[in-house]
Amino acid sequence: MDLKELEGKVQEVRAAWERAKAALEGPEALEEVRIRFLGRKGPLTRLFSALKELPPGARAEAGRLLNSLKQEILSELEEKGARLAQETEERKLAAESYDLTLPGRWRPVGRLHPLTQVRLEIEDIFMRMGFDVASGPEVETDYYNFEALNIPEDHPARDEWDSFYIDDTHLLRTHTSPVQIRVMKSRRPPVRIICPGRCFRRDNPDATHSPVFHQVELLWVERGLTMANLKWIIEEFVRKFFGPGYEMRFSADFFPFTEPSAQVHIRRPGGKWLEIMGAGMVDPAVLSEVGYDPEEVTGFAFGLGIERMAMLRWGIEDIRLFYQNDLRFLSQF
Ligand code: DAH
Repeated sequence: MDLKELEGKVQEVRAAWERAKAALEGPEALEEVRIRFLGRKGPLTRLFSALKELPPGARAEAGRLLNSLKQEILSELEEKGARLAQETEERKLAAESYDLTLPGRWRPVGRLHPLTQVRLEIEDIFMRMGFDVASGPEVETDYYNFEALNIPEDHPARDEWDSFYIDDTHLLRTHTSPVQIRVMKSRRPPVRIICPGRCFRRDNPDATHSPVFHQVELLWVERGLTMANLKWIIEEFVRKFFGPGYEMRFSADFFPFTEPSAQVHIRRPGGKWLEIMGAGMVDPAVLSEVGYDPEEVTGFAFGLGIERMAMLRWGIEDIRLFYQNDLRFLSQF
């Protein structure tokens, strides 16, 4: 082979390369063409090994020709590769682009049950006043639910709390007042607690009765407490919870575990009076029962209806709505 012949071969390879280049499509084709022209079995490799057959004087010139074709192919491949990569990227971005006119996806957001909201708010108000939150069992003994609260077996007041008995001595608690006894028996005064919880009574459901309902019990026992302190706490609480426009009425009542006893009614603007709690000074017999000295400490307590508070806040007239779990009702709170 001489220089002329090699020049001819280089021309042929270049022409073949031009055709292949024009037909190039995707990244796989690019790699295939690279191997075809520059690979071990490609024409350039063959021509490079043929250099030694040339007369020594022609080798430098021939080498230059081959190298420049090789460089050409390499740089064009690189350029083409970069362009292909960019096109791929652009297609990907176009496919990913956001349509800002699409309506958003609706994700339903849960919320707390209105009774839970009211309970948390009541807890918050009293915790800020320095009360601890206590709890007690929903299945109680006769002793805690009645006897220790100064309601003996044959006391007519028992009729007021129509109970679900489980056996001779166990029942579902009819109020949260038994927690007073449990707390006082486990601590020395001063005691300052509230206890929210479920209560159970054998009432037929109607607009104002539910066999399951919720109360918050409050108890404060310390040296020197009077009915005036009780009244102040209740007024302060009602003012914080309801805000302006609500009226409050404080009147006499009777409970075996308090002396004197009171009841509190609230009226929302334009609404009816609704009793929200029973209250009073803890009866000395109850203090003695838990081992406190009624000559040393006095205390007051109340039992507040959570449903009543919610009904007053939102003007709800039927207590059963709280338990039907109808989202049309619940989603309003
Ligand atoms: N436990 C009573 C009830 O459910 C309410 C009550 C009255 C609670 C007076 C008290 C209280 O703590 O002092 O009917």
